[in-house]
Amino acid sequence: MQRRDNPYTPGAGRRPPYLAGRDRDLEDFSSLIEVLSTGGAERSLIYYGLRGVGKTVLLMELDLLASEAGWATTDVQEVGSQPDFRATFAQMASRLLREMSRRYRMRDRIEQALAVVKAFSVLAPGGVQLKLDVDAATGTADSGDPEQDLVELLREIGETANSAGSGALFLLDEMHNLDAPSLAAISMAFQAISREALPVALVGAGLPDLQVRLMAAKPYADRLFQYRPLGRLRDVEARVALVKPAATLGVEFEPAAAEEVVRLAAGYPYFLQEYGRELWNAAEASPITPADVEEVRDLVKEQLAHSFYGTRFALATDAEQRYLSAMAALGRAPYATGEVARAWGAANQRQTSPHRDSLIQKGLIWAPRRGQVDFTVPLFAEYVREHHPLEGYEPG
Ligand SMILES: Nc1ncnc2c1ncn2[C@@H]1O[C@H](COP(=O)(O)OP(=O)(O)OP(=O)(O)O)[C@@H](O)[C@H]1O
Ligand SMILES: [Mg+2]
Repeated sequence: MQRRDNPYTPGAGRRPPYLAGRDRDLEDFSSLIEVLSTGGAERSLIYYGLRGVGKTVLLMELDLLASEAGWATTDVQEVGSQPDFRATFAQMASRLLREMSRRYRMRDRIEQALAVVKAFSVLAPGGVQLKLDVDAATGTADSGDPEQDLVELLREIGETANSAGSGALFLLDEMHNLDAPSLAAISMAFQAISREALPVALVGAGLPDLQVRLMAAKPYADRLFQYRPLGRLRDVEARVALVKPAATLGVEFEPAAAEEVVRLAAGYPYFLQEYGRELWNAAEASPITPADVEEVRDLVKEQLAHSFYGTRFALATDAEQRYLSAMAALGRAPYATGEVARAWGAANQRQTSPHRDSLIQKGLIWAPRRGQVDFTVPLFAEYVREHHPLEGYEPG
């Protein structure tokens, strides 16, 4: 087995050789595209889940499906780095229009739409540097009301796509990074546009609190989107994710070996890819045996501790790291913030709430509900307990 043939893809946003357990999502998305392409109305999609469950690669796959159906897409865009979401949408919109103009002959219509994009972008604080060779249209998408302007921008994109018999797909990754006003405007705008039965859709992805954040931003956001949790793979799916990439290259797993990896990886796609890669590199020959698994086990654990967990833990300040240690020390998730504060050694919760907020901001933890916290990284508690145990704490 040559290292250079290694088919596994541990990492962030790396397309796996076999996308396990997502058939249903791909089918649902294809019918969403179909409905919107034929003048129907359907709500856009929001995916949420822990780190490494495969949100980004799913979005990449949907991107391909949409392209195959003749739609223009924004590609998967990580949002939240721009100070104003309008800058991001202006860029995405001009990207969609550029793609449409490459695929379809409709220069005048596209110029007209670009003028609207320009009008929209002029208002984004900080001014977007979009090199658009058109004059801004006045009176469309430039009222200064973010919700209304975004609706008008989406309508313009939708009508342009419609006239080409195409569609437009916005793919927003790490969407939990957006602040409440941005999330509210996006919810409202896509809701309004879905009523107009234009071929425009959004697929958003983010950490588990994305749904809660959308709901906090717009109380009835629960009805504006279709929400889909992404979680661990079921055992059969995890098994295929592990076994199939090797099998296509003529390398087999002994059933007991595959079973052990599935157990160790706890169904998390990223962990499966890590094990797959190391097993491929370590095994002398096919089939891969339980002894091979035993051999790479510590190496994979070390690698995860170093690259997956360690780098994230290092993002936290000393006080925040103690907060993470305090969470892990409590044992069972989700963790009551009051108890975390006590374990941390705080006199009251107010003392630790800035640390909690900052950790949420950094995407290391999230709040399943008021007064509770949990880790965003799978099996993080185990890592923290082993490598950064809470000092001076006796579980009681
Ligand atoms: N359905 C799947 N089948 C097999 N492997 C997968 C699947 N989904 C994701 N992976 C693998 O898991 C890893 C993580 O995928 P991805 O980066 O999409 O996760 P994510 O949810 O976006 O994580 P993050 O929250 O850190 O951005 C990658 O190595 C990818 O190849
Ligand atoms: Mg991702």
